Amino acid sequence: MLRNMSIRKRLFVILSVVYIITMVGAIAGGYFLLDRDSLREAKEKTELFTTVMSANQEFMASDVRPEIMDQLPDAYFPAATVGIVMMGETAKIIQEKYPEYVFKVASPNPLNKDNLSDSFENSIISSFNTGDFDKWEGSITKGGKRFYATAVPIEARKSCIWCHDTPETANPEMVKEYGRDSGYGYEVGDVVGGRFVYVSMAAADAMTYKKLALFGGGISLLFLLAILIIDRVVISTVVKPIERIVEVAEAISRGKMDREFDVKGNDEIKLLADAFNRMKVSLAKAMDILRK
Ligand code: HEC
Repeated sequence: MLRNMSIRKRLFVILSVVYIITMVGAIAGGYFLLDRDSLREAKEKTELFTTVMSANQEFMASDVRPEIMDQLPDAYFPAATVGIVMMGETAKIIQEKYPEYVFKVASPNPLNKDNLSDSFENSIISSFNTGDFDKWEGSITKGGKRFYATAVPIEARKSCIWCHDTPETANPEMVKEYGRDSGYGYEVGDVVGGRFVYVSMAAADAMTYKKLALFGGGISLLFLLAILIIDRVVISTVVKPIERIVEVAEAISRGKMDREFDVKGNDEIKLLADAFNRMKVSLAKAMDILRK
């Protein structure tokens, strides 16, 4: 196919093919590298967020709760004595400023209906329960949005039972607030839920696409420039000189022996023109001999 084309067209087709291969390679490679960076960044953010949440809980468990239990043994004050409740409240404050950080204590059997686990969380929680793994992390798509997520199991301990056993034994204030339908029936050792942290990757993804668009645009511009320059060079150093040689050769073939093959420069086409000039001289001599 290439053989039947003019030199210009052939070069254009070759450069276009190289352009397409370069673009596909650069965009795919670029996406791979940028996405790896986004994931690493999201992972770091998730770890930091998780550590901050755990630190709150640890501090509460070691310093605040014992003091409260000591001074007010009968008080129902979960925000200061139950890690899960306190973390949920702290997360809400953090989220006001950083909406891309989502913290959720999910359970298929929740006191608070907002904590009801969705299908993804259910599958992770049941894997925790069957002991398939004891920590999960990775990127997931939820409601069309991509997140980096981590999850750890929440196991029922003895200290949990007085609130999560039955509505009859639980604090009446709690039952009044959350109802009697779910959140009860905990047994020590069961995985009753999971602590999920989601960090939205929407901003990082948008940045990746922007960088790829700029990168692809830059490559396209460079190729366009290269194609234009190569085209100009081919026209002035190959196409035009050959057209002149053809025109002179045709004139000579019609008997205009005074025409000269005149090519500037010092390249292969100049060699060709010189060879034609020598051939013309030999031809003239041969014709002279023939005429005599
Ligand atoms: C003082 C009572 C109390 C104790 C003790 C308690 N919780 Fe809770 N728990 C609550 C309340 C209240 C909520 C609802 C928080 C909210 O509104 O998000 C809750 C929420 C949860 C949730 C989220 C799902 C849901 O039910 O809304 C899980 C999981 C959970 N608790 C597990 C535990 C575990 C495990 C322990 C023991 C380590 C424990 N709880 C100890 C009162 C308690």
